[in-house]
Amino acid sequence: MNAYLNGQFLPLDEAKISVLDRGFVFGDGVYEVVPVYSNKPFRLDAHLHRLQDSLDSIRLANPHELAEWRDLVLQLIAQQDFSDQSLYIQVTRGTPVEGQPPRDHAFPKGVPPTVFMFAQPLVTATPEHKAAGVCAVTAVDNRWLRCNIKAISLLANILLRQKAIDVDCAETVMLRDGFLTEGAASNIFVVKDGVLRAPPPSNLMLTGITYDVVLELAATHDIPHEVRAISEAEVRAADELWMTSSTKEIMAIVKLDGAPVGAGVPGPLAQRMDALYQTFKQQVMRA
Ligand SMILES: Cc1ncc(COP(=O)(O)O)c(C=O)c1O
Repeated sequence: MNAYLNGQFLPLDEAKISVLDRGFVFGDGVYEVVPVYSNKPFRLDAHLHRLQDSLDSIRLANPHELAEWRDLVLQLIAQQDFSDQSLYIQVTRGTPVEGQPPRDHAFPKGVPPTVFMFAQPLVTATPEHKAAGVCAVTAVDNRWLRCNIKAISLLANILLRQKAIDVDCAETVMLRDGFLTEGAASNIFVVKDGVLRAPPPSNLMLTGITYDVVLELAATHDIPHEVRAISEAEVRAADELWMTSSTKEIMAIVKLDGAPVGAGVPGPLAQRMDALYQTFKQQVMRA
């Protein structure tokens, strides 16, 4: 399993950084997770643009041009001995150099960012898993107000997600001030009376690459859809609830806080959207 660290491709277990790296000490960095199918990255440019947005938001200069990123990512993909990959990209504010305080909130001057990438096998849901769906719990979204940044400091998301894991569920659906934001590691869609609904992009959620694909597919295939604030009552009264992410794709939530969602099985629109998504993926991969 090969990794990339600051200009070098090397075995993952040989990739080493300083303990003073600001990613380690402060969680001062951003990341992306790109799904790779049959050695082809899916929506790579969208991920790289979101990485740019995250870097801009934390005032960290992008160490690479888009073309350089593409090239590095493709090189890393080619070095793995498995073809479906979950490719992780992380950029941190680097390690203070000699003469600089080892730990200081202030941005260190003249320090190159740390760029780290590695790939692990991408395990997508089996047809049986999709047919069963997953359960989720709700929780108050107590994260900060800049959730649109894909920041590596994920402590709040981890604690929220663990609430689901503790009760053998897959995801925590988060509510802020009575409205749906997103999942702890996914976006959430609601279906009611055949209409697909998603909360609007804002500082309170990460706009998923999968979220965008789902809305594009809904538009292309004339599926009625609305992007608007969704109340807790609407979440609880949903016919269908889905979680979406690059690695989970589209997964039906069939139980929320112990109560069945709709009929308590993956709904027809979830199945249709998953089929559209799989077809779209194949088309993109063949292109
Ligand atoms: C908090 C959060 N929201 C949404 C998503 C979905 O984003 P994407 O579809 O780009 O994977 C993720 C993915 O990890 C996430 O962590």
